[in-house]
Amino acid sequence: MIMQVTDAADVYIPRFCYHAKLTVAANCRMCLVEVEKAPKPMPACATPVMEGMKVFTRSPKAVAAQRATMEFLLINHPLDCPICDQGVSASFRTSRWATGATSRASPSASAW
Ligand code: FES
Repeated sequence: MIMQVTDAADVYIPRFCYHAKLTVAANCRMCLVEVEKAPKPMPACATPVMEGMKVFTRSPKAVAAQRATMEFLLINHPLDCPICDQGVSASFRTSRWATGATSRASPSASAW
């Protein structure tokens, strides 16, 4: 998968549901990247690598897709989520910072 290759090359792609030791769920869509000749951004964790493939992890199209996913998550996930103890986890904050995504749903956006 693209994610394994970029991790080996020390190229960071934001992610929430991917873990190298677990099966690929590919349901968060935080890892979207631009793949040459693909009509839309592809999830790096679930897209197999092919010969001659060109992947862009920080292109405007890839960054826009990652930001859109982050915006969607921020809008639909409360900061005081009662489901788990982590609340706004470190990876959530890191990805938000990395993508530059902000949301009106987040009252403390300027603090991050
Ligand atoms: S890391 Fe969640 S879809 Fe790829």
